[in-house]
Amino acid sequence: MERRTIGAAALEVGAVGLGCMPMSWAYSGSRQRGDASLRTVHAALDASGQAATLLDTADMYGPFTNELLLGRVLKERRADAFVSTKCGLLVGDQHIVANGRPGYVKRACDASLRRLQTETIDLYQLHRADPEVPVEETWGAMAELVAAGKVRALGLCAMGARARRRPAPGRPVPGLHEATVRQLERVQQVFPVSAVQAELSVWSPEALDALLPWCAARGIGFLAAMPLGNGFLTGTLTPGQGFEPDDLRARHPRFTAEMMAANQPLVVGLRKIAERHGATPAQVALAWVLAQGRHVVPVPGAKRERWAVENAGAASVRLTAQDLREIAALPAALGSWD
Ligand SMILES: NC(=O)c1ccc[n+]([C@@H]2O[C@H](COP(=O)([O-])OP(=O)(O)OC[C@H]3O[C@@H](n4cnc5c(N)ncnc54)[C@H](OP(=O)(O)O)[C@@H]3O)[C@@H](O)[C@H]2O)c1
Repeated sequence: MERRTIGAAALEVGAVGLGCMPMSWAYSGSRQRGDASLRTVHAALDASGQAATLLDTADMYGPFTNELLLGRVLKERRADAFVSTKCGLLVGDQHIVANGRPGYVKRACDASLRRLQTETIDLYQLHRADPEVPVEETWGAMAELVAAGKVRALGLCAMGARARRRPAPGRPVPGLHEATVRQLERVQQVFPVSAVQAELSVWSPEALDALLPWCAARGIGFLAAMPLGNGFLTGTLTPGQGFEPDDLRARHPRFTAEMMAANQPLVVGLRKIAERHGATPAQVALAWVLAQGRHVVPVPGAKRERWAVENAGAASVRLTAQDLREIAALPAALGSWD
């Protein structure tokens, strides 16, 4: 598989990573997977060939069970993986809360290392900044983890409902991404950022306006989260099919029967291009993400082994200028969190 490099430290990974979240969090059926999930992770590692596969996880997925699951694989195949995990969010009975206190971050890292059964985390990301702690303080603690050899590089996530808002054509991107750029500039003063993680897909392209170019100009990697539009862009979901209450799509404004029907032209457009390439709509959706820059690594989420294999195959799909024009001309997705 083609390789991509992350950040100034030039850490090499296969072009398509694996988002491990659906195996333990946010999607229905995620808690009953057991050995099937292990097979999915192994399949993703096998699919990268000589390159290490970026496995994206977080301590809060489960909570903790996602890292424990990966630990079972890493114990045997550490060299085949690039481990990317996150700290800074705590799952409570009712709410998820941010904790960016330096002491907490250091304890969280030690706990992640134990669960992942590894001595070093390749990329340690701040999941969310804590509004009660200056982000420089949190980042300083994370930098000390690099100095201690527990972590190789640092990243920051820019996620949230506002990331899904599509601005009117020609208008600047409001909110989240601009705030993130300001935050990135602050933490860069303390220790270099190696990667930014944010939503990027055919139906959520907002990061192209500010965040992606900001990263490209500084040699910073970009991890594209939710590159398949939470599964919608694969064309395997049916409008009105319904989702279990523990599935994030049960509350997602783009997954009502009405919005799924209204957004079908996106799937139709991807399918048309896929047919020309002998590929699947999922692979075209990922090839579009890969085409946004050499610093971009999509982390498609998958519980199933066959999806992990199919998604890795997207690295071989080369979209033409005509394909990219057709995707750019697709209608903007309908359905917003606002
Ligand atoms: N930093 C953050 O705050 C943040 C937030 C969200 C996500 N993320 C990261 O981004 C990753 C990806 O996001 P995501 O998993 O929510 O969304 P996604 O990658 O857009 O979509 C995942 C969904 O697509 C389905 N799928 C995957 N490949 C498929 C294929 N080839 N054909 C048909 N269906 C397919 C999966 O099904 P199955 O599950 O049934 O296999 C799953 O339901 C996460 O795993 C996580 O690592 C980070």
